[in-house]
Amino acid sequence: MQPAVIAPSILSANFARLGEEVDAVLAAGADWVHFDVMDNHYVPNLTIGPLVCEALRAHGVTAPIDVHLMVEPVDRLVPDFAKAGASLITFHPEASRHVHRTIQLVKAEGCQAGLVLNPATPVEVLDYVLEELDMVLLMSVNPGFGGQAFIPSTLHKLRRVRERIDACGKPIRLEIDGGVKPDNIGAIAAAGADTFVAGSAIFGKPDYRAVVESMRAAIAAATGAR
Ligand code: DX5
Ligand code: ZN
Repeated sequence: MQPAVIAPSILSANFARLGEEVDAVLAAGADWVHFDVMDNHYVPNLTIGPLVCEALRAHGVTAPIDVHLMVEPVDRLVPDFAKAGASLITFHPEASRHVHRTIQLVKAEGCQAGLVLNPATPVEVLDYVLEELDMVLLMSVNPGFGGQAFIPSTLHKLRRVRERIDACGKPIRLEIDGGVKPDNIGAIAAAGADTFVAGSAIFGKPDYRAVVESMRAAIAAATGAR
């Protein structure tokens, strides 16, 4: 298992002062920036595109930017996000006509590639592509909105995907996204996640450092010294 990564979702940040919000959350101890891209087509919401990613880089953000594409089709946006400074690009298999080709495209553009499984997407979608991936992202809510409740069956799904990753033997990250809070992150870590997205749990609170530290403490308590 790799060191735990906390990736705050800027979906819940104050967009009127996004640069300061990202600086503040990274200064508070977060590792990555989770960047939710929604198109009002694959999901019923509309958010931000490559221009905003580029603006964060120009602002001076050097932390990894974890771009979660909730868009259909996927491929046309991949080079745009790579140029805009994305570090990782994850996408939903339902949104790409040729999943393996899209993974190759992300990697050819110089980014790490991840596949995102919705709550009802079977883990078998990882067959034949797991070894190509740098990360698997399990949605623990239906994609489209922040602030939803964690779907408990995701814990079982995490254990199943953790087994597959361990059997594969490659350093593939297992990320969880949706409804992650200090009071459930320990159980999520124990089920096998090593990368934790949290939006409303962090940006909804006045003291980002206190939340990030309580999350790290809960992960450590549940898994040993990670
Ligand atoms: C939902 C997004 C999430 C969302 C998580 O479609 O992918 O990243 O921002 O928000 P919380 O942590 O509030 O559930
Ligand atoms: Zn997300």
